[in-house]
Amino acid sequence: MNLDDDEVVARIRRDMMDSYEEELELELEDHEFGPDGEEVRAPDTAEEKEFRRFYFRELLRLQTELIKVQDWVVNSRQKIVIVFEGRDSAGKGGAIKRITQRLNPRVCRVAALPAPNDRERTQWYFQRYVSHLPAAGEIVLFDRSWYNRAGVERVMGFCTDDEYEEFFRSVPEFERMLARSGIKVLKYWFSITDEEQHMRFLSRIHDPLKQWKLSPMDLESRRRWELYTKAKEVMLERTHIAEAPWWVVQAVDKKRARLNCINHLLTQIPYEPVEHPAIVLPERTRHDDYIRNPV
Ligand code: ADP
Ligand code: AMP
Ligand code: MLT
Repeated sequence: MNLDDDEVVARIRRDMMDSYEEELELELEDHEFGPDGEEVRAPDTAEEKEFRRFYFRELLRLQTELIKVQDWVVNSRQKIVIVFEGRDSAGKGGAIKRITQRLNPRVCRVAALPAPNDRERTQWYFQRYVSHLPAAGEIVLFDRSWYNRAGVERVMGFCTDDEYEEFFRSVPEFERMLARSGIKVLKYWFSITDEEQHMRFLSRIHDPLKQWKLSPMDLESRRRWELYTKAKEVMLERTHIAEAPWWVVQAVDKKRARLNCINHLLTQIPYEPVEHPAIVLPERTRHDDYIRNPV
């Protein structure tokens, strides 16, 4: 094997181009459909082009930092939990995707639990979440979390008033226990406006790639916008503790929300560069055929 430096560089550049294409595919998710099903194409002004370039550059820079975080988490055996909450279509899922995109799924994984089944409903409320908490060297991103009780369950009437009150008694204790056990807990609320949610739901109705995201729960939650607002205010106020503070992400602009969220979480994690010995690939000593039958 004697690839010279030029060849290696050319190869790296080609691989990067390939990954940019995937990047573009990921961004295609952002196309929007209007109320009559027509695809609404944002006019490509110079300013927008410039912003898109800025967005990609910045995202790549932040993802490079996230890799350093991953390295530090593994190396110093950290445990990190990041909770993503927000109304339907607030953009939690999109932010989570960009965070995990370049990380090792064994180090950084997502917990997106479905509605509790009949057995889980009889358990201690936090029980099914506990089994997803990180061990040393792991980051767990909760795409919705135990805060369901203060949000959807409250607003849709899936829990009793007593269960709701008990939740608020428990949650600070629960999160303090996590903190004392060495788990760092970060909580983000993705905030969108009434008009923006309306537009996103319309877009989902007409986008074959997004229709699956629109659940009966989502439609009902639009009807109950005001109740959700109240529930959110109560939740943020009663569960904002020093050991696990809430951070509100302005999320009407999806791309800025992603950058801001990742940027912010980097400031909350005291990661340091990890020294690694230089890696030298071993030489192969024999030549195989490419692929053949064994006989
Ligand atoms: P998502 O927006 O997360 O894709 P939905 O809008 O369908 O999913 O549901 C919102 C949240 O409500 C989910 O976290 C789901 O687990 C929860 N949920 C749905 N039905 C129930 C229920 N009967 N009891 C408790 N939680 C529920
Ligand atoms: P509160 O925390 O009491 O201020 O309630 C928050 C909001 O949720 C209020 O506007 C209540 O009317 C509403 N709410 C309370 N209980 C339920 C329930 N079981 N189902 C639906 N909405 C509820
Ligand atoms: C979001 O956009 O916030 C998430 O994808 C959840 C949802 O589908 O509402």
